[in-house]
Amino acid sequence: MNSQVQEIAAHCDQLPERYIQKEDEEHGNVTNNNASSPAKIPVIDLSLLTSSHLELDKLKTASTSWGCFQAINHGIEGSFLDKVREVSRLFFDLSAEEKKCLSEENDVEGYGNDMVFSDDQILDWTDRLYLTAFPKDQQRLKFWPKNPTNFKEVVDDYISKIELINHVILKAVARSLNLEENCFLDQYGTASSKMVARFNYYPPCPWPDKVVGLKPHTDGSAFTFVLQDKEVEGLQVLKDGKWFGVPIVPDALMINVGEQIEIMSNGIFKSPVHRAMVNTKNQRISLAVFCMPQTIKDIGPVDGLITDVTPRLYKNVTFSTDFFFQNNQQGKRRLDVCKI
Ligand code: SIN
Ligand code: FE2
Repeated sequence: MNSQVQEIAAHCDQLPERYIQKEDEEHGNVTNNNASSPAKIPVIDLSLLTSSHLELDKLKTASTSWGCFQAINHGIEGSFLDKVREVSRLFFDLSAEEKKCLSEENDVEGYGNDMVFSDDQILDWTDRLYLTAFPKDQQRLKFWPKNPTNFKEVVDDYISKIELINHVILKAVARSLNLEENCFLDQYGTASSKMVARFNYYPPCPWPDKVVGLKPHTDGSAFTFVLQDKEVEGLQVLKDGKWFGVPIVPDALMINVGEQIEIMSNGIFKSPVHRAMVNTKNQRISLAVFCMPQTIKDIGPVDGLITDVTPRLYKNVTFSTDFFFQNNQQGKRRLDVCKI
């Protein structure tokens, strides 16, 4: 197994070669941290989505132009979000030995760092804990931390709250396109969502201009819900060829359109390329929850969106867990292989 970034940060006085990023054809210098600011990533008030056409329109514009938005008034108390942040931090504060017990060779789930697909792959400056969180009977408990002792209780509770918000969003984006509100949800089948949680830990890095926390990529989910660090920024979104830093909006959830919704919406909603940057002074912790249909089944553009003027852009595809976890290093979009 690779040594954890946390240990490299603590013990190495030279950056191991494998973390040094190279130019990326598509995104230029991936470590260039000149984000255009201030970002105007839309802020959407979820409590207004059933009563205000204006807010619904804002949601549509956000999802078509940015492919992401910051959700406020989503129904989760700020104090509970702090608790989720706290159990995440307490987990990453455990000793290296204790955390390493939660990993197995060649298993994506559990504690580890960047998945390694090839010998020449450049690695991200991050350690992570990957857990299938929902449905509960798919949880692999051997990978769940026993410490802090309330970790599982808090995360389970958080996930069930995110599941509700996921439904609200799936229905609202359908209504924003004047479609029947269950048309995206119907592709989930009769089962509820599958949800995978990824806890990201980015230690401070003495060489921030040489590494990235997470390389540019798009998410393979339907929607992703990111709980940001409370104080330290680092997430950036690519729009019109420019990087925009995602500002910290207190108690907001950052919601990204995933590739599956881009397909289901026949390309109307965009799955944005994003990346995470690191800095010399502060560690940063974030939690991304990826929501997607639970069963392995075909998904495709919904019928109401395919017309003579807007022909079908994507084939039906099967989103198995393998597809979701498949590497999309350097922003090479899995979506491109799904185009007609
Ligand atoms: C991500 O999971 O893509 C980024 C999460 C973050 O660190 O903000
Ligand atoms: Fe992501």
